[in-house]
Amino acid sequence: MCGIIGYIGTQRAAPLIIDGLKNLEYRGYDSAGIAVLQTSELFVKKDTGKIAEVFSEKDLETIEGNIGIAHSRWATHGGVTKENSHPHLSNDGNTAVVHNGIIENYQELRKFLTENGFVFKSQTDTEVIPNLIQYFMQQGTSFMDSIKLAVKKLEGSYALAIINKNAKKLVAIRKESPLVIGVADHGYFVASDVPSFLDQTKKVVYLYENDMAVLNDKMEFFNIKDNLPVVRKIDNIEWNVEQAKKGNFEHFMLKEISEQADAIKLAISQDEKQIKEVADAIMHAKGIYFVACGTSYHACLSASYKFAKLANKHVNVALASEFPNYKDFIVPDSLVIALSQSGETADVLEAVKAAKEKGARVISLVNVVGSSLTRYSDETLMQNAGPEICVLATKSYTSQLAILTLLAYALAGKYEEGKNKLKELVNSIYYLTSTNTREHIKQLAERLRYVNHIYLIGRDLQYPTAMEAALKIKEVSYIHAEGFAGGELKHGTIALIEPGTPCIVFTSSENEKKILSNATELKARGAYIIGVGPNNNELFDFFIKVRESGEANSICQIIPIQILAYQLAILRGCDPDKPRNLAKSVTVK
Ligand code: AGP
Ligand code: GLU
Repeated sequence: MCGIIGYIGTQRAAPLIIDGLKNLEYRGYDSAGIAVLQTSELFVKKDTGKIAEVFSEKDLETIEGNIGIAHSRWATHGGVTKENSHPHLSNDGNTAVVHNGIIENYQELRKFLTENGFVFKSQTDTEVIPNLIQYFMQQGTSFMDSIKLAVKKLEGSYALAIINKNAKKLVAIRKESPLVIGVADHGYFVASDVPSFLDQTKKVVYLYENDMAVLNDKMEFFNIKDNLPVVRKIDNIEWNVEQAKKGNFEHFMLKEISEQADAIKLAISQDEKQIKEVADAIMHAKGIYFVACGTSYHACLSASYKFAKLANKHVNVALASEFPNYKDFIVPDSLVIALSQSGETADVLEAVKAAKEKGARVISLVNVVGSSLTRYSDETLMQNAGPEICVLATKSYTSQLAILTLLAYALAGKYEEGKNKLKELVNSIYYLTSTNTREHIKQLAERLRYVNHIYLIGRDLQYPTAMEAALKIKEVSYIHAEGFAGGELKHGTIALIEPGTPCIVFTSSENEKKILSNATELKARGAYIIGVGPNNNELFDFFIKVRESGEANSICQIIPIQILAYQLAILRGCDPDKPRNLAKSVTVK
């Protein structure tokens, strides 16, 4: 998703906000721009392309002005063009705005403003915002009151940073899209995410839904709904700058894959009381719905098998975007468990809001502190997996699985047993992320480098693993990969298997016989079989040993494929941290 950063303080804004924007590149974008208040003019530079292409070193050194905003755009309305990139100016050139989100009623606002003499230079939804502000200002309303009036007209999601050439202020507003304030000793930052200003300050204020922050030589906070002042506290970021940077890894993806043993340790050091309270809520709920997207959805699917198997508890699992199909069954006694690493996925927030409207209780499992989902939920379990910068979910996935496994054991009244089982995993995860394992898997990556299709099968708990493994491969190496239940092979997909087609088969001691018979069907058609599990077999052309871990197989068996996906991406010249068309947090529906 896009990145926003703004600065007001005693230093030149340009270098701070351009460098800050670079720290948000992981969020995915297609164009970039900056607006800086210079004396009494607004300097604007924006274009399509990478940040390093749009801004030169000379820009960082010469652009004067200590109040500025910058944006990396992920287009939703209007193509990827220079005119559509942000910041957007009002017609009189006095107000500049950068925006993350979608203004759902922008056509009617555009029509209203056009009828009032305004001219639009872009096809974006965003451009209505600075012009609405001008519309009210030209009626004699102050800049601040014009912003409040303009925002009341907006429908949809927006994180905004706004400056005006006649006001020594930086205004930030958040509704559904993420926005935080950085409190440095030389000034204030407003940004989509913490890494953008982490090398400047570790003091952060997490904005709440409908918060407006007015920054100049002090910070003031208001609620845009009732215009009343609100108090927001300053938190300290626990991460150090290195954690949010790559460390000695070439890419965040490999760094975060390698952090999984630690992420599991952090995941199981949950507050026991909270875990048992959540387990109790699950036990007493009438109708339980896991809701998530992408990798988080696969974690939910995996958890549903564990809840059934360990605690004899039935849970529904819904893709967040499909959740409206369940809404007629949601009642006040329902429990929705929402999973989201970022806590900002629009589909998940939408589903949770719908559940709340029906009176259901919402418990969420989130990694990003201060994210929207933590505010929409009645209770939040924090993953504490540390920042996950790579667009791909790796450590956040195994962290989710660890916590959900612990929850399933707690549900069965076996919390300690579950905690000990997960602790035992840590050593084997260190081995799975070791250089030895990576070298072994690299041989497979070399073998698969030029293939166009990879099929992955698993049964029981290995079925969600096969789906997650397929997602990892396709989203970072751009090889078509399809994960499905082993039993489904004969119902269609086997028609696609040709001599040499690579098929990854996840096995476990429990279902080995059945899944190997599926592997035999593949072998009979000449497939190249890669086995992942505790025992090698003559069917396998390549074997990756993963020690048997029972319910925790779902945690261990994904790791070799995360590594495989990473290595395929490198071999194929793809960017593992910023895959094409993808964003770390999909904050639009
Ligand atoms: C996972 O590798 C993908 N980046 C994507 O499927 C992701 O899991 C999905 O967008 C959900 O993100 P969330 O967990 O932040 O809600
Ligand atoms: N909807 C706005 C646009 O398309 C903002 C997109 C974003 O969040 O980057 O320009």
